[in-house]
Amino acid sequence: MPSSFQEMWAELLPVGRHAGSGGYRRFAWTSADTECRDWFREQAAARGLDVETDRNGNQWAWLGDPSAGDAVVTGSHLDSVPDGGAFDGPLGVVSAFAALDELAARGVRPSRPVAVVNFGDEEGARFGLACAGSRLTAGQLTPERAAALRDADGVTLTQAMERAGHDPEAIGPDDERLARIGVFVELHVEQGRHLAGTGSPVGVASAIWPHGRWRFDFRGEANHAGTTRMQDRHDPMPAYAATMLAARERAAAAGARATFGKLLVEPNGVNAVPSLVRAWLDARAADEETLALLLGTIEDAAREHAAREGVEVGLERESFTPVVDFAPALRDELVRLLAARRPYEVPVLPTGAGHDAGILAAKVPTAMLFVRNPTGVSHSPAEHAREDDCVAGVEALADVLEGLACR
Ligand code: GLV
Ligand code: MN
Ligand code: MN
Ligand code: MN
Repeated sequence: MPSSFQEMWAELLPVGRHAGSGGYRRFAWTSADTECRDWFREQAAARGLDVETDRNGNQWAWLGDPSAGDAVVTGSHLDSVPDGGAFDGPLGVVSAFAALDELAARGVRPSRPVAVVNFGDEEGARFGLACAGSRLTAGQLTPERAAALRDADGVTLTQAMERAGHDPEAIGPDDERLARIGVFVELHVEQGRHLAGTGSPVGVASAIWPHGRWRFDFRGEANHAGTTRMQDRHDPMPAYAATMLAARERAAAAGARATFGKLLVEPNGVNAVPSLVRAWLDARAADEETLALLLGTIEDAAREHAAREGVEVGLERESFTPVVDFAPALRDELVRLLAARRPYEVPVLPTGAGHDAGILAAKVPTAMLFVRNPTGVSHSPAEHAREDDCVAGVEALADVLEGLACR
């Protein structure tokens, strides 16, 4: 008997959990990631599914013949942000296995191949680029760039994959694999409050906001905190701080999002004026024009405040993901499939969070299901979804797989 949803959840729960924060530190190609991958293999084996790891380190568990084509694929990711929650990613993978069990319990035999996928390095927590596994497969991340993306210790993505036993020569676009996918459906915990307070435990995604990451380097002059007069300093910290406040104000005015969540300070001494503040901006908006305008105003603010403090500022775009509008026909089909069986409304909602589904959408018909999150909190140990809502998510995913894979 394969593990139930609750058993799978309980098995995965301790993996990569930090005792102090209670959050997850499942970074790509680390030992916690390897444990998650072993768990995936065990779940597949318990269900008699064939597992393969593709040329970019993504895992696939197949029901039916993978080479037959027109496959129905579902799944998500198992890695996490620093001190992330238990649901972002794993809910989609656990629900995928549980939905296959539900199909079996219903006596449903899919006529198309069905796969559960675990995309590698979705969060980009270690190497800075989100959705690295799906981007490599889709050709949005080249092997050359993967060989240049480094973690905090200087290890490149390619080296990390090789150290985890992956063949670095294999890395690269995988059109042949994508051509075998007929449809991809990712289930994910909602990372916002659209569904909270509604009678709907499950919704369908309409769009993913365009988003990106930019690195600001404010460079000044290190000096003594006690002897350097305030007016004699070239201090990058106030330039950064004023930029951060401007970003917050302008994003709020535009109905957009701007977050400085990661900083590097040199020399990072309590009693030294810094020489460098490196700050990463994550910015998102409902449309690309608003995002571009927001970026322009933040860049202007950075230049203005840098000049005022007598420091230099440099700006580099590290990644950009254009808006994703999920195909309306497939989205409507999901709503129809759910509405036919479920006693609740099926809201259609956009999200500001990035997903592998957003990368795949450029190549194959793709859709997403969201499971209600009562607080909306995500990328935090406090992230939560109710168990009955998770069960509703599994049932909804099973309805969708049944509808798509049995015709
Ligand atoms: C990924 O979760 C992102 O949207 O940052
Ligand atoms: Mn996430
Ligand atoms: Mn996620
Ligand atoms: Mn994500």
